[in-house]
Amino acid sequence: MRAPAIIPAAGVGHRMKSSVRKQFLTLLDRPLLDYSIEAVDSCKMIEKVILVVCEDDLAFCRDRYLKKRRLSTPVEILPGGKDRQESVYLGLRHLQSLDEAPQWIVIHDGARPLVTNKIIKEVLKAAYKSMAAIAAVPVSDTMKIVKEDKLWTDKTLDREKVWAAQTPQAFSFPLLLEAHKQAEKNGFKGTDDASLLERLGHSVCIVEGEDENIKITRPVDLKLAELILSSRKGAL
Ligand code: C5P
Repeated sequence: MRAPAIIPAAGVGHRMKSSVRKQFLTLLDRPLLDYSIEAVDSCKMIEKVILVVCEDDLAFCRDRYLKKRRLSTPVEILPGGKDRQESVYLGLRHLQSLDEAPQWIVIHDGARPLVTNKIIKEVLKAAYKSMAAIAAVPVSDTMKIVKEDKLWTDKTLDREKVWAAQTPQAFSFPLLLEAHKQAEKNGFKGTDDASLLERLGHSVCIVEGEDENIKITRPVDLKLAELILSSRKGAL
């Protein structure tokens, strides 16, 4: 059984403090986005890719960026929304509008270039069994809820029960679409897709992810990603 994948890559990346949009920053001589697209493309369980990019990058991606890449999976490009949730929802609605809407869906952030083919497969297989699955890792730091002013701690979470959610995340397509519809209707914003299901009482299964599958958010993440990639290539 195969599934399409949505890659949300329409973020502006303010926290990178760079004039170049995050997905096109250079990571070991190549645009950061190459890595997530290629990891998804190399996964035989993925039948097509819906790449969601900023309106301003649409023509560049369609006419230049994708043409230069030799991908084996068909890729469609869509303009994104004002936040991640909206970008994913636009991808889901596009898929639903096709003659044959998919049964399953994989979501993987363009900002996680170090994802492996193995974890994409494991998460999708777990979703086939449980309807909803995510990659997540246990946290090593002690996690605090802070006061609204962000100057004072409020309380400490039980570290044993706190895991950091990553992407890939995979779901039954109708289930995720419904969760997005409900979230939009109720004005709920979540920072990942699983949270939209959790609020409706659905269980989401965890596949232990990989610590190296970091999200590029701040400049230090890019340095770390370069080190990890170099060590994978045996250059360190
Ligand atoms: O910044 P954040 O952690 O929300 O970004 C996660 C992913 O969502 C990134 O790959 C980013 O490009 C994407 N995103 C998007 N549309 C937005 C904002 C973020 O596709 N409007």
